[in-house]
Amino acid sequence: MKGIILAGGSGSRLYPITKVYSKQLAVIYDKPLIYYPLSVLMLAGIKEVLIISNEETIPHYQKLFDDGSHLGMKIEYKLQTAPRGIAESFILGDEFIGNDDVCLILGDNIFFGELTFFYDSVKNFSKGAKIFGYRVTDPERYGIVQFDKTGTVLSIEEKPKNPKSDYAVPGLYIYDNSVIEISKNLKPSARGELEITDVNNEYLKIKELKVETIGRGVAWLDTGTPAALLQASNFFGVIEERQGLKVACIEEIAFNKGFISTEQFRTVLDNMPNSMYKNYLEKVYSDFIDN
Ligand code: TTP
Repeated sequence: MKGIILAGGSGSRLYPITKVYSKQLAVIYDKPLIYYPLSVLMLAGIKEVLIISNEETIPHYQKLFDDGSHLGMKIEYKLQTAPRGIAESFILGDEFIGNDDVCLILGDNIFFGELTFFYDSVKNFSKGAKIFGYRVTDPERYGIVQFDKTGTVLSIEEKPKNPKSDYAVPGLYIYDNSVIEISKNLKPSARGELEITDVNNEYLKIKELKVETIGRGVAWLDTGTPAALLQASNFFGVIEERQGLKVACIEEIAFNKGFISTEQFRTVLDNMPNSMYKNYLEKVYSDFIDN
C-alpha cells in the first residue's frame, strides 16, 4: 500500500496565510498541519509516501522531511501546477503508485482517537474502493454518502442541497490500482475540477465501493478556516498538556513502529536543534533505554 498526501490547493479561506505557502504548513499547536495526516499513514504502516503540492510549498516540505530515510520511509514529491481537483492525485501519482494499491489522505484532514477502523482497512484491503462515513451537523458542506442497513452504498453526492444522510466522506480513501485509469478517464466537473466523488461513483457503478462508518470516539477535524485552525490547535494543546504525550510526533512514531532502529533514533536526536520538541523525544528515548 502506497500513500499520497494531497497538500496544495488554493486555501482561499485562509488568505493571506496561503499567499506565501499552502495551508498544510500552518501551525496546529506545536507542529505543522501536515504532520497530522502523515502520522496517520505512518501509524497504518505505510512507508512510501508521495506529497503533492505547489511550487512554493514543495521546497518547505523537502526541508521538513527530506527523502524520509531518517524516518525509515521513502518520501517523494510531485508538483501540481494548479488545484485541478483531488482526483488528479492519481494521475500525478501514476508512476509513484506503480502496480500497487494506494491510500490518499488530504493534507488538511486530521484524525485523532482510536484509528483501528483505518489500520484494519489498510491491512485487510483487497480490491475496489474503501471510503469512510463520519456523522456531521452540516452535511451540505461535504461529499455525502447514503447507505442501507447492511452498509451497502446507495449514493454519494458532492455538497448536496438536500443531503440524503448526515454522513460526510472524510479526506481519507483507499483504492486499488484501477483508480489510476478511472481518474484518467474523468471529465472536469462544472467547477473545473477532477472530483473524488466521481471516482467513488465509478466504483459504485461496478459495485466495488465500500463504506465504513467512523465512531464517535474519533475526532475528524477540519482545518480549512481560521476558526477551525484555532480549534484544532486548542484541541491538541489540551490533549498534549494533559497527557504529556505528543500527537503526530513523526520521529516517535517511526521509532515505535520499528521503521527506525534505536541507533537511528539516536542519530535523529543528535541532529535535532535544542527545542521543547527535542526534549520530548529525548524523554521517549531515555524511557526506552531505561526499560
Ligand atoms: P479544499 O478544501 O477543496 O480546498 P482548499 O484547501 O484549496 O481550500 P479553499 O476551499 O479555502 O480554497 O481542498 C482539500 C484539500 O486538498 C486541501 O488539503 C488542499 C488539497 N487540494 C490540492 O492539493 N489540490 C487540489 O487540486 C484540490 C482541489 C485540493
